[in-house]
Amino acid sequence: MNNTTVGIIGGTRGMGHWFAGLLSKEGCAVHVSGRKTTLQAKEIAKTCDVVVVAVPISATAEVIKLVGPLLTKDKLFMDLTSLKKEPVELMLASSPAEVIGCHPLFGPTLKEISGQNVILCPARGTKWLSWLKKVFKKNKLVILESTPEKHDQMMAIIQVLTHLHTISLGTALAATGIPLAEINKFSTPIFQAKLDIIKKVFTESPELYANIIIRNPDTGKMLNIYEKALTDISQIIKFGGETKFKEVLDITAKKLF
Ligand SMILES: NC(=O)c1ccc[n+]([C@@H]2O[C@H](COP(=O)([O-])OP(=O)(O)OC[C@H]3O[C@@H](n4cnc5c(N)ncnc54)[C@H](OP(=O)(O)O)[C@@H]3O)[C@@H](O)[C@H]2O)c1
Repeated sequence: MNNTTVGIIGGTRGMGHWFAGLLSKEGCAVHVSGRKTTLQAKEIAKTCDVVVVAVPISATAEVIKLVGPLLTKDKLFMDLTSLKKEPVELMLASSPAEVIGCHPLFGPTLKEISGQNVILCPARGTKWLSWLKKVFKKNKLVILESTPEKHDQMMAIIQVLTHLHTISLGTALAATGIPLAEINKFSTPIFQAKLDIIKKVFTESPELYANIIIRNPDTGKMLNIYEKALTDISQIIKFGGETKFKEVLDITAKKLF
């Protein structure tokens, strides 16, 4: 891996910065760009063996279209975007390079990545796929290969549904009108754990969560499932009584576990 030059567009912060650290540790020569760096995305595309797009979701399509035509067949064009269908289609359409969609299923601040999942969507070529898998395996990541479509469908459950729940819980908490300082005096460990997640979603990178929800093709489906679940639960609590409520919890537990 020592001779591989990697350029990460969006490598000054966040996931791109994390990936830059990982590849530097593996002996690659890593170059990064952001909007204000002297080294710009086009230069990276012209000079590096591996070109990685790790910019915010809203800027990904534009960056791929800008740099894709500058890559050659022997290079790897990859991304770290949380959604896979659109970026992979655009990387294939805009360049002749090998293409791999990649989504690490954790954030850039996680200290220990060993055992975490990473999804790969190999779309063109095999040479660089074995290189990338070797890097991830060496760092004990669990690799799953998927199509971009299946990845996005599963992210509708893993990310969209989960973040919808967090956002609705935060919205409902705010709607109580009771200050958090007062609520916290009565806190339990479960409440505290949920509040930590709510704080992360609402304050750390709201743009990322908003894009993950709004841009997933299956979000409408998840909203319907979530709304129906809430309506069903509400009906049972209001009209079904204790026995019926317990029965419904048992049926769902059997379905899930
Ligand atoms: N954060 C996560 O937990 C996570 C997890 C998995 C995957 N991802 C994916 O990783 C990608 C980046 O997300 P992030 O959370 O790491 O974002 P981030 O922390 O905001 O970092 C974005 C990077 O892109 C650069 N950038 C922003 N706009 C740009 C533009 N128009 N052109 C070129 N560079 C630009 C930024 O540098 P400047 O601001 O200096 O320009 C920075 O280096 C997204 O596709 C996201 O879906 C994120």
